[in-house]
Order: sequence, then C-alpha cells, then structure tokens
Amino acid sequence: MNEKNDKNDKNKNLCRLIIEAENAQKKNMDTFYRLQFHLMPPVGWMNDPNGLCQFDDEYHIFFQYSPLHVHGGMKAWGHYVTKDFVTYNYCGAPFLPDESFDTDGVFSGSAYVDKNGMHIFYTGNVELPGDYDYTTAGRLADTVLIESKDGYNFSEKEVVIPTSSYPETYSCHIRDPKVWKENAYYYMVLGGRTREDQGRILVYRSDDLRYWSLLKELKTRTPFAYMWECPDLYKLESHYVLSFSPQGIDREEYRYQNIYHAGYFVTDTNPITNDFSYESDSFREWDMGFDFYAPQSFLDNQGRRIMIGWVGVPYAQYQYAEVAENWQHCLTIPRCLRIGKAQGEERTIVYQYPIEEVNQLRTNQLKVENYRIDCDDDGMDILVEELEGPFSITLFDEISFSYENDTLMLSLSDEIGYGRDCRKCKIKHVKNLRILLDVSLLEIFVNDGEYVFTSRFYKKEHGTHIQFDCKDAKIYAYIMKRIEIS
Ligand code: FRU
Repeated sequence: MNEKNDKNDKNKNLCRLIIEAENAQKKNMDTFYRLQFHLMPPVGWMNDPNGLCQFDDEYHIFFQYSPLHVHGGMKAWGHYVTKDFVTYNYCGAPFLPDESFDTDGVFSGSAYVDKNGMHIFYTGNVELPGDYDYTTAGRLADTVLIESKDGYNFSEKEVVIPTSSYPETYSCHIRDPKVWKENAYYYMVLGGRTREDQGRILVYRSDDLRYWSLLKELKTRTPFAYMWECPDLYKLESHYVLSFSPQGIDREEYRYQNIYHAGYFVTDTNPITNDFSYESDSFREWDMGFDFYAPQSFLDNQGRRIMIGWVGVPYAQYQYAEVAENWQHCLTIPRCLRIGKAQGEERTIVYQYPIEEVNQLRTNQLKVENYRIDCDDDGMDILVEELEGPFSITLFDEISFSYENDTLMLSLSDEIGYGRDCRKCKIKHVKNLRILLDVSLLEIFVNDGEYVFTSRFYKKEHGTHIQFDCKDAKIYAYIMKRIEIS
C-alpha cells in the first residue's frame, strides 16, 4: 500500500515538474537553432527513438526524454503521434521512472502491435545505492511490459524478465528490448556486455509475450566491441539485417570515426533459425556523419521498413550549441530501407532514403543560377544529380562536402563545427546527392542512400548560401515548410 502511494506521489510530482518545464519553454520556442522539420524534445534532452510503430492509421514515435535536465539525467519516454509525417501531436511523457524497478530511468525499448493493441517493452534502469562500478555490480535492468488498447492510455507496468534471470556470464549491462513475431512465436533481442567485456545479443522467445525463455546468443567470430546497445533484427526483402550500436571499437581513418557507432550485419540466412557467427569486418556503419546513434526500425502497414535514428552520440567530444536554448538533440528524418549492392561491388548493403512524405514539405522551387543558392530560408531539400568525377560543395563558406581521389569528405570550420572537424569515407563513384538542410542539421544522402552523412552545425546568421563546384551536374532546390506540432 505504501509502495503504491510512494509511486503515485513520485508520478504526480514528476508530471507536475515536466508540465511546468514544458510550459515555461513554450514561451521560448522561437530560438535560433530550433529545427523546422525534424523532431526535437519540447524541452531538455532527447536521445534514442523508442517504441516506433504504426497503430491503425497513426504512427507513434516515442523517444528517450529528460525534460528536466538539458544534459540528460532522469530518463522518461516522450511521445509524438502523426498520420502523415507533416502534422504531429505531442502527447506528453507517458512513462516516468516512478516504480522501484525503473527508478533510475525508463530506458529504451520497442512496441509490438497486434489486434489486441500495443505492447511496449523497455528496460527499467536501477542503480543501487552503494559503492558499485555499475558494470559488474550494482545495476538492475529488468525487462518491463506496458500495454495499451488505443495507443494513448496505458496499463500498469509489469516486469516480464527480472534481472536475476539473465545469464550469469553477463555483466549488468543488458538492455533495449526489441520485440517482433515470426511464425508461431514472439522474439525479443536484448543488447548486452558479457563479464569478459564482449558485446553480444541475447535472443528470447515467448508464446504469450509474458513468459520469455532464452533461446540463443548472437555474436561475432572474433571480439568486436565491449557492449552492443539498441539491437534490432528484421527481414528486409530476402535478407536479414541485424542492427545495433556497438561501443568500444578503435577509431580508423575511414571508418568508426566517432566515439560510438551504429551499424549492421546483413545475411541471407535467418540468424534465429541458423547457427553462425558474424564476421566483424562485414559490419557496416549506418551513417558516416558526426551525429548518429541508436536507430530503431518498424514495418508500417504499407510494408515499408522505416528507420529513425538519434541525431547525437553519447559522450560526444563536440558541442551542441542549442543547450543555451534549453534543449538538446533531435531525431533523423524517417528513412525507408531497401536492400541493394554497394556501388561497383558485390557486397549487399542497406540503402536509406527519406520517407516519401517528406516531399510534401517542399514549397517553392528555387532557381539555382551560376551554381549558387542565396536565400533567406533555413530549411531546404536539395537534389544534385548527374555528378561526374570530383566535386566540392561549400555551405555558408564554413562547411565543405567534397569528393576527390575516391574520398568523400565532410569538413566543418572551427566557427561552425563546435568541435566537429572532418568525417570521410572511401567510395568509387558518386552519382547523386540529396541534402536535407534544417537550420542546424544536415542529412546528406549519397547515391540514393548508399551512404549518409548526418551532422549538426551552428551558423550565426539566418539564410542559406551554397556554392556548387560540380561541373554539369543538375541541381534542384526546394524551400521546406515546417512540420506542425500541436
Ligand atoms: C543508447 C542508450 C540505451 C539506453 C538509453 C538510455 O543511447 O544508452 O542503451 O537504453 O540510451 O537513455
């Protein structure tokens, strides 16, 4: 009885503080770095997308939300809903750390939808008081279920896998359940770190979404990172994609340039029903920019596999200037995934491209004269087609995106980069680009989404100035309107 009262008091108190913080921020929405067509936290900090799903005709986009701490802190889930990716409703923060099993954070998780409604799974983070390292001891990470008949009203939380039942060979770092159904069973993948500091994925199976038994482990043949976060596993066309965010890979010149990474393995056999180990070297990063991590995907009613990532990286060495405006980070544009071959190679990869609905945000088409764009707007969708050979694109005189000697490179000046310098990759041929520019965010899709560079940047004045040094290429530019959020 007392525990229930404590929980209700904590919940009420947090609700009040969050509503106060969000209302106070509403008076301060027209700030310089706020984006026009990407989702941001209403106030405070945002990280991973969570619980992505389509339920009836609405898309639900939950996210890791720390409304009271702009640098991250207590993690709750925030909730956006949209039918068309143009008009959104913000539906508040439905899951707060108010139970003994999630008191230090309602961590990441997913949503599984069927005829009975929405089934949400997440990790309840608990850091026990005491002298612990919170890796080998002192942390609980129960897997918790919440259900909903309508996507707006939610059941009580229910622990379905207690920490005590995770394998003893694992450290305390096990989290981020992703659930789906395949044939007669439900499956769940959880990211983990073994006691030997090896990243792994645990696969559980259930026939009722409540009782889960451990089925197998997914791993690499040779050691690859000490922790794998945010796993996702799905069939894409005739292949199987295992996506996760590994921590602890050494930096290389053309790969793994950020502190932590996000990427995938693609196989032509199902890792659930076949036994094999992945080849570390075949891991491919989702994004080559400075700011991308913890993506999650879902299948919509049209059969599209849609992925959204966090535009941010944990413990990034560079700055996010919007902190001065009392918010931090955002989500990528939803990206549709498809299987393809890498340019000029036999390798099977996943292509990512902005969801078609984004085109509805295009308004006026700009005339691009003398390979230059100069205008007062800050949101733009730019297509560069029929590229041949080396090129260079300069934005605001401070950012360069260039291609020469098989190297594609994004470089930011000290002034605009806030600690971001240069990111690059090796690529044999660049045919086209799509550049989504949104005030302080760039998403550059290369070769119809073979590569993507996602990066924040911080210019000092409004307006867009771009110089294209790319002989004979065709350039189309559209001014973007804002998404509406109510
Ligand atoms: C990834 C992550 C997840 C965790 C969440 C906490 O960014 O560390 O593993 O559930 O963030 O906010």
